[in-house]
Amino acid sequence: MKKYLEKLPKEIQDLIHLASDIAAKNKMPAYLVGGFVRDLILGAKNLDLDIVVEGDGIRFAEHFAASLGVKLIRHRRFGTATIVIKSNLKIDIASARKEFYPQPACLPEVAKGRLKDDLSRRDFTINAMAISITPRDFGRFIDSFGGKGDLRNKRIRILHDLSFIDDPTRILRAIRFEKRYNFRIDSDTLGFLKKAVKLKILESVQPQRLRDELILILKEERPIKQIRRIHQLLGFNFIALELSVSKRTYKLLRAIEKQIKWFRQEYPQRRPLDTWLIYFMGLIENLAINHVQAICKRFVFRKGEEKRILAHKKIGSKLIHRLSRAKVNPSIIFSLLEPLSYEIIILIKAKSENRNIQRRIKDFFEIYNGMRPYISGDDLSGLGIAPGPYYQKIFSEVLNAKLNGRIRTKQEELALIKKLVRT
Ligand code: CTP
Repeated sequence: MKKYLEKLPKEIQDLIHLASDIAAKNKMPAYLVGGFVRDLILGAKNLDLDIVVEGDGIRFAEHFAASLGVKLIRHRRFGTATIVIKSNLKIDIASARKEFYPQPACLPEVAKGRLKDDLSRRDFTINAMAISITPRDFGRFIDSFGGKGDLRNKRIRILHDLSFIDDPTRILRAIRFEKRYNFRIDSDTLGFLKKAVKLKILESVQPQRLRDELILILKEERPIKQIRRIHQLLGFNFIALELSVSKRTYKLLRAIEKQIKWFRQEYPQRRPLDTWLIYFMGLIENLAINHVQAICKRFVFRKGEEKRILAHKKIGSKLIHRLSRAKVNPSIIFSLLEPLSYEIIILIKAKSENRNIQRRIKDFFEIYNGMRPYISGDDLSGLGIAPGPYYQKIFSEVLNAKLNGRIRTKQEELALIKKLVRT
C-alpha cells in the first residue's frame, strides 16, 4: 500500500509519518482504518484520518496533539480522541476494541482488543480494511474480509448475518455508501437488510442516532438517489408514520437541488448552506405542523435547526403569497426576507415557479441582503437628536428610502433625517 500512501498530499503524509514515529516510540502498533483506507484505494478525497492503535488510544492521541501543538477532544467512554487540525482536516484515534451487543439496536459494550477484533465489529467489508503504519511493517495491507475485492466489484457487503440486527443504523449507511459510490448492495446483504426492515428493527433505535444517519444522507452531494432507495427498501416510517413521499415531493427535491446549485454558483462567498436542512424541509413538506413539531421533539434537533424548520412551516405559504403580488416594493421584499435564514429562502425559491418570486429573491441576494444606512447613532446625536427609541424609527425610514431607491448617498440620508425631524 506504500504506493497509495505516497500519492497523498504531503501534509497528510507528514501526519502519517508522525503517527508512525509515535507508534514506534510508545510501542503501540498503529493502523490506518475505515473510510480513509476505503477512499485511498478508490482515489476519492478524504481528509478524515482514522487511526486505530493496539494500546491506549487516548495516550497515543495526547502525544500526537502535543507534537503538533494542537488541542484534542477526548471521548473517554469509547477510548477515542479527535484532533482537529483545521476545519476540513481531522484525525480520529481509537484504541482497538471488541464490541458486544447486549441487546439488539442498543449501543454496544466495549472492551480492549486487537486490530482483528476492531475490524470484525465494523459495518461493511469496504470499511473494514487497515494499513499498518508501524515502522517495521509500514504499508502492510490487512484485508481479512475481502474489502478490496468488493471495492473492485462495487459491492456493499456486511461482515456477518446479524450486522443489521446489532446496529440497524447500518441499513441507512448501506444505502448511503451504495448510492455515493454507485455500488450495489450485495444480494445476501440485501436479504438480511430486508429481513431486518420486516422486523421493524429501526423502531428500536434511539431517535437521535436515526437523525444523525439521516442528516449524513441528506448531506451527500446528491441525496435524491439515496432518498429514492430508502423509499424503495424501507419507506419513511422511521421519520414519521404520517409521512408520505409522492411524485410532488420528488419534484420539489429536484427543484431544491437546482436552487442549491444556483446559490453556490452565484454566491460562492456567502456562508455555506446547511443543504441537508433544505432537503429535510422538502422531504417533510406535506406534513401538518403538529406532526413536524412531533418530529422535531423526537429527533431533538438543535435549537437553530428546529427554529428554521418550524418558521418555514408557519410562514412559508403566506410569504409566497405576498412575494408573488404584482407590485411589491424593495423595502417590503427586504422586510419579508431579511429575517429569514438562507435555507428557508432557497426552499421558497424551489417551491415557487412564479417569476416574480424568482426575480425578487435574486434581487434580495444581489442587492438588498445586508443593506444598512450609512448614517450611525453618532450622526444622529451630531444632529442634536437625543438617543432613544426614536433612533430605530429613523434608521428604518432611512433604510426603506434607500431600498426603494429614493436616496443613495450619505448626504441624502442626512437630508432625509433633517426633514423627518422637522415634521
Ligand atoms: N462504523 C461501523 N458501524 C457504524 C458506524 C461506523 O462499523 N454504524 C465504522 C466503519 O468502519 C467506518 C468507521 O467506523 O468506516 C468510521 O465511521 P464514519 O466516520 O461514520 O464513516 P466513514 O466510513 O468514515 O464514512 P464517511 O466517508 O461518510 O465519513
